[in-house]
Amino acid sequence: MKGFVFNAPTTVHFGSGSVATVAEQAIRLGCRRPLVLTGQSVGNSPLLEELRRPMERAGLEFGVYDRICPEPPAEMLAEAVDNIRRERYDLLIGFGGGSTMDFTKLAAVLAVHELQVEDLAGNDRVPAKGLPTIMVPTTSGSGSEVSPVAVLSFPDQGMKRGIASRCLIPDAAIVDPALTLDLPPQITANTGVDALIHGIESFLSIKANPLSQNLSLMACENISKNLSRAVRFGGDLEAREGMSLGSLTAGLAFSMAGTAAVHALAYPLGGQFHVPHGAANAVMLRPVLEFNLPVCADRFARLAMAFGVANPSDPQDSTESFLQVVKDLTETVGVKTRLRDLGVPREAVGLMAEAAMREVRLLENNPRTVTREDAQSLYSEAW
Ligand SMILES: [Fe+2]
Repeated sequence: MKGFVFNAPTTVHFGSGSVATVAEQAIRLGCRRPLVLTGQSVGNSPLLEELRRPMERAGLEFGVYDRICPEPPAEMLAEAVDNIRRERYDLLIGFGGGSTMDFTKLAAVLAVHELQVEDLAGNDRVPAKGLPTIMVPTTSGSGSEVSPVAVLSFPDQGMKRGIASRCLIPDAAIVDPALTLDLPPQITANTGVDALIHGIESFLSIKANPLSQNLSLMACENISKNLSRAVRFGGDLEAREGMSLGSLTAGLAFSMAGTAAVHALAYPLGGQFHVPHGAANAVMLRPVLEFNLPVCADRFARLAMAFGVANPSDPQDSTESFLQVVKDLTETVGVKTRLRDLGVPREAVGLMAEAAMREVRLLENNPRTVTREDAQSLYSEAW
């Protein structure tokens, strides 16, 4: 067996009602003056009270920055960082979905170190840890609560770039499924499919190891069982718990194994056409899985087990069932599966392929080498 390194340093508090432990976590980290970073919709919702109450009770002097928009641009970071420095906050709490948590991770680093965020894109380019962070996800998708990754939009370059560094790993994650009960069906579907793809891609990644693969399988099992239920019956706590657990375990898995070509090809869709991350991934999933099939048939058969569709006496049948169940699931939850339905013109295929090839960080994890020509035909198939 090939050796591997296991690194999962985030303290995770999981369970309905666990948001009440936020003050305890802050104090454990030696902090007294937290800033909650969130988006306007969460900031104006009753959810914010769930964080406020325990911090008020503990006498913490906290602030709220509620201006994070979906896919925030790099310039917005400078504004938040000024605020953090001026008010001398000593802890950042990211309260929201993937964009909010990613923003919080980067703000934590930039508040302490004089760096240009543009210089940090890629692997291991963040020189040191920033302020301590606690992540409190309000969606089940990005896995950002435990991951070393932050994705940021650079509108002038028409691109989204990933920044991956151990210095971005949050100190604590509070994963409270009850916070996701009011999430609308479409966001539940888009973010849930993203989490599912984290499970699948981390399992297939060439960086996967036995521990990460078990986490990937656990993620796929929980998400495939609960995704359409959570989309149809948002208030079903058991389904939400399954999704939160699935998203968390997928996040731990890809923190070790990474994601691969689906994510690499999805990034240009977000950067150039503002397609939400989950929807962009969903549309590239089927073409990339079929592209990977020649080198992944045995692993697809193992994934079929996690999806509950394996035929133990016929691996080939299992492989086909896996591809079919993934297609059925994405269709059932209503995510778009064609680029043409997402407002992407056919002529954009060449430029997007060029942009995707720059995502070396992700492409190098893919089980089958992707050339520029491959990328172009994958986009054409998705169109
Ligand atoms: Fe993702």
